[in-house]
Amino acid sequence: MTITYATAPGRLPGAGHALSLMRDPLGFLQSLRHHGDLVRVDLGPMPSLFVTSPALIQSVLTDRKDLLDKGRFYDKVRPLTGNGVIHAHGDEHRRQQAMIKPSFHREQIARYAKVMHEVTAERSGSWRPGECIPVDKAMRDITFNILAATMFGSAVGRAAHEELAQLLPVVLEAIMWRTVSPGDLLEKLPLPMNRRFDRAFTGLREAISRVMLAYRSSTGGGDRSDMLSMLLEARDEETGLPMTDEEVCNQIVSVTMAGSETAATAMAWMFYELARHPDIERKVREEVREVMGDRDFEMADAGRLPYCRQVLQEVMRVRQPILVISRRAVRDFPLGGGRVKAGTELFYSPYAVHRDPDLFNDPLRFDPDRWLDRPAASLPKGAYTPFGAGPRHCIGEQFAWAMMHAVLAVVVRRWQLVLSPGTKVREMPWATVNPNRMPMTALPAPGRGGRA
Ligand code: HEM
Repeated sequence: MTITYATAPGRLPGAGHALSLMRDPLGFLQSLRHHGDLVRVDLGPMPSLFVTSPALIQSVLTDRKDLLDKGRFYDKVRPLTGNGVIHAHGDEHRRQQAMIKPSFHREQIARYAKVMHEVTAERSGSWRPGECIPVDKAMRDITFNILAATMFGSAVGRAAHEELAQLLPVVLEAIMWRTVSPGDLLEKLPLPMNRRFDRAFTGLREAISRVMLAYRSSTGGGDRSDMLSMLLEARDEETGLPMTDEEVCNQIVSVTMAGSETAATAMAWMFYELARHPDIERKVREEVREVMGDRDFEMADAGRLPYCRQVLQEVMRVRQPILVISRRAVRDFPLGGGRVKAGTELFYSPYAVHRDPDLFNDPLRFDPDRWLDRPAASLPKGAYTPFGAGPRHCIGEQFAWAMMHAVLAVVVRRWQLVLSPGTKVREMPWATVNPNRMPMTALPAPGRGGRA
């Protein structure tokens, strides 16, 4: 049976829904649930289906028969990023996932926790009382430095971390531009932007190759618990072979692409919500000081700070950084009582679902206590998916929780970030929902002084 899907209002001949999407992307995506569980939206001439009901979202995400790949936007950047874990499909995806999973085991993250503490303490330790901090940029800087240090920790020195942490965001910016630009004409023109992107890509691949060379020529002493060492040591279960240098490089770009902007954006919104809710901030600080005192953050703290966890869960709901997740039907398959045709692009918006009033009472209110009354596990499946679900579930979820706890605890213990008076912060829909700006004043935290 073929089913007809409701088409979202505002479609124009030729342009489809492009205008509605451009005019108010966040409002448009949130309005789709009023038109059905599966809603047709034409992105230019390309017909796509938006999935709005949690049950159907869950069934799309948990596809275990390789019926869906990642879709057209990923095709576009694959030539740049290579076929790393975020792109790979079917058996190749499973093979790559198995090889990178050990880098994200709990014991590994416990080691990365030390780096998370050090980077955050160092960066936030350089703030001066009364200084205006662009919190969005500060969180990006902290995230990229944590990623660079956890990826390349033992193999390279500090200067190399800084170099990698500077190259990674430029590479990421290039990927974002190329994902959203129509066609491929723009990226072929000799524009200064394209030259900068090309230089960053070459620089990144060269820097990673140098690190790999240094790793191989070293005697094997020292702490080899960084992500790169794990990737170089990983072996294919069937063939026993390691990844090629090219493959390792692709995984590093993949992990950075998946884990940097998402986490940095979420943490910027986290401080924004705390600044708007001083009572919640005070409770967070009290809990952190009581549990951690003056000592460094460690992985186990993520389980010892229940109120911080609720706050973070709420940040990941109402400030979910990911606007849309895409898939494409590889073959015809049944969905929602009908059949989706091969080649159809499917999308869903975790941002919109997390703000659906049928699923969350008073959804725009930042209320960490809602997680006491209604724990995440009791929600309908597909309703709260900050880290996705199913076989493509975020491999960095535990890394992300640990990092968010570490940054929250280390900053809040020492600083109170206050929104500069009259500042209006707007949501900017990009690959993630970014703040347009976030200037905040760093004041010494009230109560006894805490170390970073
Ligand atoms: C708050 C931060 C983060 C959020 C909201 C987030 C969210 C997600 C989501 C929703 C997916 C699934 C995408 C899909 O279904 O297509 C995903 C996948 C992924 N994430 Fe995260 N993530 C975060 C942080 C991280 C971090 C810190 C890392 C690594 C250090 C990471 C690595 C990955 C990777 C490699 C994938 C691809 C998994 C696969 O396709 O098998 N993420 N993430």
